[in-house]
Amino acid sequence: MNEPKVIRRRNSGTPPASARTNDSRTQSQYAPYKEAAWGFINHWYPALFSEELPPDGTEGIQICGIPILLRRVGDRVFALKDQCLHRGVRLSAKPTCFTRSTISCWYHGFTFDLETGRLVTIAANPEDKLIGTTGITTYPVQEVNGLIFVFVREDDFPDEDVPPLAHDLPVRFPENDARFPHPLWPAAPSVLDDNAVLRGIHRTGFSNWRIACENGFDNAHILVHKDNTIVHAMDWVLPLGIVPTADDCIAPVEDENGPKGMVQWLFTDKWKPILENPQLNLKVENARGRCYRTSVFLPGVLMVENWPEEHVVQYEWYVPITEDTYEYWEVLVKICNTDEERAAYDYRYKHLFKPLALHGFNDCDLSAREAMQDFYADGTGWEDEQLVSTDVSPITWRKIASRWNRGIAKPGRGVEGTIATSSIRLKRLADGIAPGYRVRKIED
Ligand code: FES
Ligand SMILES: [Fe+2]
Repeated sequence: MNEPKVIRRRNSGTPPASARTNDSRTQSQYAPYKEAAWGFINHWYPALFSEELPPDGTEGIQICGIPILLRRVGDRVFALKDQCLHRGVRLSAKPTCFTRSTISCWYHGFTFDLETGRLVTIAANPEDKLIGTTGITTYPVQEVNGLIFVFVREDDFPDEDVPPLAHDLPVRFPENDARFPHPLWPAAPSVLDDNAVLRGIHRTGFSNWRIACENGFDNAHILVHKDNTIVHAMDWVLPLGIVPTADDCIAPVEDENGPKGMVQWLFTDKWKPILENPQLNLKVENARGRCYRTSVFLPGVLMVENWPEEHVVQYEWYVPITEDTYEYWEVLVKICNTDEERAAYDYRYKHLFKPLALHGFNDCDLSAREAMQDFYADGTGWEDEQLVSTDVSPITWRKIASRWNRGIAKPGRGVEGTIATSSIRLKRLADGIAPGYRVRKIED
């Protein structure tokens, strides 16, 4: 009887070329990334669509383990730590505002100034000596083209050091046309552009945010989309994968005063689309090219140029909520200079892109990230993964993110998800409520 063949998982045979290795030296270049289970702090993140926060509205969310309250008063949106400094309840669970400039805790009446976060009075204890000596952290807010961004910071991060929002968004066009030529498609609109129309959704994903983020620009993962309805309805040539053919297949973006991330030279001779694998009897038969380019920038924002059609860009954020949940944002951006253009785009978004691209196509990504989560959940996946040439993309991103992040979020403290199996989390699950992004309001 033949001896069974021993399969050695590591260090057997010819080692891969050095550019492809993910050995301990390479891993040491992204050690901070491996620590960032709860995300990178001191960055701008999308928090809500404007329409989700109506006049006088109050909502509670959680980003990087930090509970955040958003309140709209007049033309301002305020963001404060959503954790009462008295006994820690979330103010947004039962929003209570006796004046336009304050929010009071619904439990014992601690009252905070919306602008400064200072404790200005206590409803039933107005002489207490704590008043005026303390407060809760506030977060800078910027609302642009229907999207509310919050600068999620550590409690002692100074106002004067808050960078412009543009530093936490992808590079812009046409300013970068010469640097990142794109003869195959029109200039990519930014969420910051005049007349940019943003349409999209956000929903909670059940994996670590890094797993989600790396999926977005992984040039081998497109295999999961091979059978998607939109691909065949549009007759798109979506390769089985795209493999690097040059050492400079990715351009790091590390300007001193600007966004930090990377642009992949897709659909140039630095990458080769794989359209068939005869051994597996696989072949892409569709006829219509659909060239695109994926880039990623801190704190984890993807830009897919020329997708899902010309003149449209898909942006995605993977906003950490806890170490095993993230808020998945999918936002399509197009410049519409007239009401007619806007109406036509709205129709196309509603009846084509939302159901078939943001859901049909990207639902596969959500499933793939969930499928990876167990492998990475305890931290050992970063050691045990065995990467291949296409994984130059996540490796490059991990190194850039390690070099340029403004801080590694500490594990959540006293918040949802700190203890994964807390009785309250289990009770909510039993009630059919999955862990998520928003605070549930207490009914009267
Ligand atoms: S917990 Fe907020 S006032 Fe007591
Ligand atoms: Fe995908």
